[in-house]
Amino acid sequence: AKTRFLTGITPSGTPHLGNYAGMMRPAIAATHAQHVENFYFLADYHALIKCHEPERVHRSTLEIAASWLACGLDPERVTFYRQSDIPEIPELTWFLTCVTGKGLLNRAHAYKAAQDKNQEDGRDADDGVSAGLFMYPVLMAADILAFNAHKVPVGRDQIQHIEMARDIAASFNHLYGAHFTLPEAAIEDGVATLAGLDGRKMSKSYDNTIPLFAPRAQLQKLINTLVTDSRAPGEPKQVEGSALFQLYQAFATPEETAAMRSAYEGGIAWGEAKQMLFACIDREIAPMRARYEELMAHPAQVEAVLQAGAARARALSRPLLERLRAAVGLRALD
Ligand code: TYM
Repeated sequence: AKTRFLTGITPSGTPHLGNYAGMMRPAIAATHAQHVENFYFLADYHALIKCHEPERVHRSTLEIAASWLACGLDPERVTFYRQSDIPEIPELTWFLTCVTGKGLLNRAHAYKAAQDKNQEDGRDADDGVSAGLFMYPVLMAADILAFNAHKVPVGRDQIQHIEMARDIAASFNHLYGAHFTLPEAAIEDGVATLAGLDGRKMSKSYDNTIPLFAPRAQLQKLINTLVTDSRAPGEPKQVEGSALFQLYQAFATPEETAAMRSAYEGGIAWGEAKQMLFACIDREIAPMRARYEELMAHPAQVEAVLQAGAARARALSRPLLERLRAAVGLRALD
């Protein structure tokens, strides 16, 4: 039997190097293995949780679709689709909602973080927290279970959601029979949490990202703003906790990484290290950036790919939902 990989990315902004190194690059590598099937999608229903700007959701969906294709996703090999083209996903979300303990969702990191922030600011814990944010893990479980994925390539911040998907699947199976495979996270160890410009996790919410396809000049400028300590040229530098070193390692060969480690010990100037980081990232990104710009100029081509992917995905999700409707005691749709 084939191992089924599935993963998604939320189109609520411009994809960044953390998305790429933590998830997209390993997910694309996984499409070249033997005995695999791959389902990669744009989680646009998820985007509505945080982003209430229609134009931005629309634009970001195109940007992220073009990014996947530019990074080498082959739509022949991968079933590549947009979540909102698959009506079985919200249908399944409801079935799963009804077997999910509210207490499980109370423990979700994203929800708790929103509550903590409110409390720090002296507001009511649930102030401005939508039911959508609370339900996020159930929607994500439906994404994964609608295709009975085995492996879910993600960065470290998503692990809890995969564990919840397992719990939810197990509850459903317990009540209605063994319909779902229990999914597992597939984590890329070295880059499970890529650092951003300020040294914290690279994230849209911290405004510390390096856009994956920033034009060359902007890439260079952003890298120059990367946080470092105040050690002067000639003073030995520490690789532990160095965002610059971590980013370099994510894009360099092992030999280059070893050389950078020695250069740190030898007191390389930060300016020079940044120049090396820029060259190293740009070497990998430049050919993809050209493809990206080409794709962004032809949105109709991208759209055709997504629609073909949705048709392939629905050929699986529709029969599954028919079985599940029967399993829970609902009438078959005509
Ligand atoms: P999203 O859009 O926030 O992020 C997409 C992927 O990028 C990873 N990532 C990172 N990895 C390493 N270092 C970083 N700094 C970094 N920042 C982001 C994330 O871990 C993620 O894998 N809820 C998901 C999308 C989703 C999904 C799914 C994923 C919806 N349904 C089903 C898997 C299966 C999200 O918002 O990811």
